[in-house]
Amino acid sequence: MTTTKKVLIAYATAHGSTGEVAEFIGKVLQEHDFDVTVRSVDGVTSVSDYDAYILGSAIHAGMWLTPMSVFLEKFEDQMVGKPVYFFMTCIRVLEPDGRQHALANYVHHETMEKLGVRDIGVFAGKLTWDEIDLSERWMLSLRYDGMEVPGVRNDDFRDWSAIRAWAINVRAELEKTPA
Ligand SMILES: Cc1cc2nc3c(=O)[nH]c(=O)nc-3n(C[C@H](O)[C@H](O)[C@H](O)COP(=O)(O)O)c2cc1C
Repeated sequence: MTTTKKVLIAYATAHGSTGEVAEFIGKVLQEHDFDVTVRSVDGVTSVSDYDAYILGSAIHAGMWLTPMSVFLEKFEDQMVGKPVYFFMTCIRVLEPDGRQHALANYVHHETMEKLGVRDIGVFAGKLTWDEIDLSERWMLSLRYDGMEVPGVRNDDFRDWSAIRAWAINVRAELEKTPA
């Protein structure tokens, strides 16, 4: 007998686009009969009811967003031992060394190791300058650690087929994982 696996997809977003990525990943899992809950990290009150977790955050100033840190501080101990995946959305990945840079610098490695994170998806995000306020523009200009000026990036760079491919891979791994 197969049991439907329950997956929590919890995301941290500043301007909404990472939430849309989370919803999209959820739909890919649902194509194969997973019981998926997609929720902003702020709205998660318990993680005990799930068989697996997919956590995702936008990157600001070289790190995931503070609500993701708060979420992890609260819940990481309860997720240890179950399958955990992580994804980030950023613009640095658009530069030639971007993926390696993001993996090396944009996640807290100790946390990833503690959680036994199985895979980290690095996705190009969305950055539209007329949607970000003056203080965010400042932060981005001062703290962006790429070789290019961040102002050259002003678009929705999300590559849905790359995100879909990653989600299919996660789905296949979870299907092979005993409940
Ligand atoms: C204030 C600010 C700081 C950012 N800092 C970085 C950064 O350090 N590195 C990076 O690659 N992208 C950075 N970005 C780009 C975001 O990670 C990207 O636009 C992301 O997709 C936004 O997701 P959201 O719409 O869910 O907030 C920054 C964006 C903003 C607005």
